[in-house]
Amino acid sequence: MLTTNPHGDKAATSKRDRRGAVKSLRLAIVLGSVILTGCGGDPDHPDPAAFNRQAQTVEKPYALALSRLVTCMTTLQGFTEKEATKRVFGNADKPSDMEYLSAYIAGQSRGVRMQVSTKDAKEKASYEMGKALFHYRAGSWDFSCASCHGTPNKRIRMQELPVLSSKQGARGTYTTWPGYRVSVSQLKTMEWRINDCFRQQRFPEPTYGSDAVIALTMYMAVNANGAVYRGPGTKR
Ligand code: HEC
Repeated sequence: MLTTNPHGDKAATSKRDRRGAVKSLRLAIVLGSVILTGCGGDPDHPDPAAFNRQAQTVEKPYALALSRLVTCMTTLQGFTEKEATKRVFGNADKPSDMEYLSAYIAGQSRGVRMQVSTKDAKEKASYEMGKALFHYRAGSWDFSCASCHGTPNKRIRMQELPVLSSKQGARGTYTTWPGYRVSVSQLKTMEWRINDCFRQQRFPEPTYGSDAVIALTMYMAVNANGAVYRGPGTKR
């Protein structure tokens, strides 16, 4: 069932907060399925033709689910890309349908072992690009992702920073996103997490669904291969 992630979130939140988070998370998943129904999908029987072939989220847990969601909406449902990505991140006053949808779709992969392939040349290229980006230092602080997530035992305030280039760090992290963030009472997606880390890195915000974000996601997903997907999770 729903789990907390292993990076100290348990210690950082009270029992009451966690109970509230689990309830809100369930609600987010239910709302995602309702929205999906509104889009013409049957949440109890996710249509393999419509979702698995296009989104592949059941076999490839959460891998790239968000950009695939946009692909489905534009190629199958007739939305323009602008419409599909109009409101991808919510706030405390108004959550985003895309976040709920991603929680629902990711939830379909719960219990499935991560096996994101790099056999295809394009998959391999995306992984390699993600790896390069992860280690690419630039910006006013000359930071890369690896500056904060590349070596063990690093912390910022109370937050332990997982080593996302390692199997262990990537597995614990990747398999618990998207997550309900107790600190802001909102469900957040991996894409939001990456965007916020780009901000912490003093880099410009990447475009939603851009090659760079997909490549970074791919890199972390492949590093997490072999682990069982346990999300959506709860986060600090
Ligand atoms: C300046 C330090 C810093 C940099 C650089 C940084 N991060 Fe982070 N990252 C953090 C912090 C702090 C957290 C925990 C935030 C929280 O829980 O509030 C975090 C959390 C994460 C998480 C979620 C971890 C979990 O346990 O669920 C992921 C995934 C992540 N970062 C990816 C990245 C990627 C990809 C990059 C490069 C684009 C990056 N980060 C760059 C500081 C950084």
